[in-house]
Amino acid sequence: MASDNTSRGFTSNVGAILAAAGGAVGLGNIWRFPYMLGQNGGGAFLLVYILFVLLIGIPLMMTEFIIGRRSQRNVVGAYRSLSGGRKGWVLLGVFGILAAFLIYAFYSVVAGWTLNYIVMAFSGKLAGLEPAAVADTFSTFTQGSFWPLFYQLLFLVLTGLVITMGVQKGIEKVGKILMPILFLLLILMCVRSLTLSGSSEGMRFLFKPDFSKLTGQSVLSALGQSFFSLSIGMGAMVTYGSYIRKEDRLFKTSIWIALCDLLVAILAGVVIFPAVFAFGMNPASGPELVYVVLPNVFNNMPAGTLFAVIFFLLLGIAALTSTISLLEIIVAFAVEELHWKRSTASAVSTLLVFAVGAFCTLSFGPLKNVTLLNRTIFDLFDLITASYLMPIGALLMTIFLGWCFPKVEVKDELSNGGTLKCKAFELYYIILRYIAPAALVVIIISGIVG
Ligand code: PHE
Repeated sequence: MASDNTSRGFTSNVGAILAAAGGAVGLGNIWRFPYMLGQNGGGAFLLVYILFVLLIGIPLMMTEFIIGRRSQRNVVGAYRSLSGGRKGWVLLGVFGILAAFLIYAFYSVVAGWTLNYIVMAFSGKLAGLEPAAVADTFSTFTQGSFWPLFYQLLFLVLTGLVITMGVQKGIEKVGKILMPILFLLLILMCVRSLTLSGSSEGMRFLFKPDFSKLTGQSVLSALGQSFFSLSIGMGAMVTYGSYIRKEDRLFKTSIWIALCDLLVAILAGVVIFPAVFAFGMNPASGPELVYVVLPNVFNNMPAGTLFAVIFFLLLGIAALTSTISLLEIIVAFAVEELHWKRSTASAVSTLLVFAVGAFCTLSFGPLKNVTLLNRTIFDLFDLITASYLMPIGALLMTIFLGWCFPKVEVKDELSNGGTLKCKAFELYYIILRYIAPAALVVIIISGIVG
């Protein structure tokens, strides 16, 4: 298409898929998913998770893409333009920016850790340590102030630089380069893990469902995790959707992205659990799983240092493509609505996020005792965004597109102006109008009631 390189968005469908898959695939898949699965009993959690991704995740991702591409705007502008400027819906866009901000604040803490662990793995500092010393290294580092803040800021600045380069030269290019590398490294790690003796127990834990371990809370966690992992419910995919070319197929694009995301989560499980079980570690150790348990695993395996470097590099790459998508939500808003320069928007947002995110970092150390409902600042940010803001944002979005927006326009956008057949449209529309909102209401309420 003649307009490809001059348009404001992605230059190709592959570019769009890789950039958006980069936004979706992140710490959520490789750090959060395995520990959630470990804490929630394994295989049964995976099954519920897959169901949520297929039944609700894909249609909702499509919904975000429709809103973004139809309006050609950032999340606030999108709701303003499609609702004809009604204040309530504009607020939903603002809600998205707020959610992005809060996620970015705590996400960048863990992203920063990956940088420190890449450096430590590379310099051999983790090699040969006793398990207690590995745990000590992690807590000494995370409970400190200077270094965790330093790495967090470094990660934020790195992300800011990519965003300053723009949609095509920054976001799309980085996605195209890093996503294939990520897959390659992940496959390499899988082979290593599966060839360890005693790996089959981990595979059983991951793939053999035991439904007695499933609670209402773990179903809520699985839903929250699917939203978090697919970046749904706060405008990331609205923003990226506004960059997808008019001739690309939104159905196909969303399915590719969601399957990529699911595949990476499952492969991360295949890397982690066989290794964890092979060396008799605890799969339910929580957020520390990849930072404390895995280094011990690496220390016990042949060529462990090399695999430690590869693994943390993988984690860093995954984190970067996601922080890019988080910052872009905020920057696209500032550029399009407030008419700031991209570089100014990127610098100011980065500083603001650091100002708030620093509290999340310090909540592992000096601010450890500042808690609400028994949770630290970091845990609160995580809980509020993944379990509440994202599902609520998604619910309101389905009400907007399913109930307050003309069906013909939805169909028009999904079928590229009627040029595609879109056989599954009616099914999609039923999910959008009834099934997704109903499921969301039940799950939000059950989460609140506990
Ligand atoms: N989906 C990302 C991950 O799995 C996290 C994310 C959430 C990114 C929301 C953008 C928006 O790591």
